[in-house]
Amino acid sequence: MRTLDDLGDLTGQRVFVRVDFNVPIKDGVIGDDARIRAALPTLEELRRRGARLLLAAHLGRPKGRDLDYSLAPVAARLTELLHVDVTLAADLDQVPDGDVVMLENVRFEPGETKDDPELAAKYAALADAYVNDAFGAAHRAHASTHAIAKLLPSAAGLLLQREVETLTGILADPARPLVAIVGGAKVTDKIGVLEAFLEKADTILIGGAMQFPFFKAQGHDVGSSLCEEEGIAPAQRVLAAGGDKVKLPVDTVCGEAFSADTPVTAVDGVDVPDGLMGLDVGPRTAQAYAAVIEDAGTVFWNGPMGAFELEPFAAGTRAVAEAVAKTSATTVVGGGDSAAALRQFGLEDEVTHLSTGGGASLELIEGKTLPGVEVLS
Ligand code: 3PG
Repeated sequence: MRTLDDLGDLTGQRVFVRVDFNVPIKDGVIGDDARIRAALPTLEELRRRGARLLLAAHLGRPKGRDLDYSLAPVAARLTELLHVDVTLAADLDQVPDGDVVMLENVRFEPGETKDDPELAAKYAALADAYVNDAFGAAHRAHASTHAIAKLLPSAAGLLLQREVETLTGILADPARPLVAIVGGAKVTDKIGVLEAFLEKADTILIGGAMQFPFFKAQGHDVGSSLCEEEGIAPAQRVLAAGGDKVKLPVDTVCGEAFSADTPVTAVDGVDVPDGLMGLDVGPRTAQAYAAVIEDAGTVFWNGPMGAFELEPFAAGTRAVAEAVAKTSATTVVGGGDSAAALRQFGLEDEVTHLSTGGGASLELIEGKTLPGVEVLS
């Protein structure tokens, strides 16, 4: 993968920098600016090398030009973080000159998600070099993540480089034992990751609603728990292939509904009574998982243990987050919900690497080639 050093002298050059600024925004207010902060080292380094920046990012999945998806709040936040005025260019045909200019949401352009070479040529005409620092979008072959890289001297930014090196590194040469904690709602979303870890990990700890297809495969009652039917057959395969390596919860915390006000029932076992749904792992599971994490050499965590956003069902995920924060192992946390959980518990700075990519980090662990990365090699 080409890196910033391969771009040579950038004094006075305009660099088109693709960043992943796809952050949660409600009523114009950014809920979590971690992705913006994560791009700062690359932006600062490029400026230190004398480059002028033309930033490109997507926000959400707009259908055409819809100003509800404008990057204006992001440009304002970046102005504060970078301590320099970030001008938002509304129109690709009239991009102002300036030290730091940001294009409007690239997904306003119909050719963006089609990897359109003509759109890529339009982008390329605006710059002298291309840097991709948008790890979270590197699994997309889009005009600003892929086609443009073939048209300009191009390289990975510091964030993209660190993400790829860390995530591929934990599978290539992990300190042992390698422990994978896999949670979340659906087995089918995580099956590629589970298969990768069946081969490479020493222990796989399962949690979240995706435990229920495993329990159903074993003949347990799941009550009214969220249980993905299509996940049962893959869960069965994982159990057969994994043997002792795959650990399932041993106790459950249940509610009558997915709500913070529902009456809470602790079940010392894994059969969920009729009328109840499992919403968290129980204390014995939390303790057992924490002990495995404590002894690990490397930990990869993706997906919460339960409905951590509801306080009565947050304890299992909190216990895992605290164990991941405390262990002396190398700890790598995939983006999305596990990142949100770490932040909720104030532990986001206590891990070795917190990925900014959700889908992209999973695809990399699955061993897939990311188009936005491959095109930089
Ligand atoms: C993300 O939020 O996972 C990335 O920014 C990619 O967004 P997308 O799934 O809309 O392509």
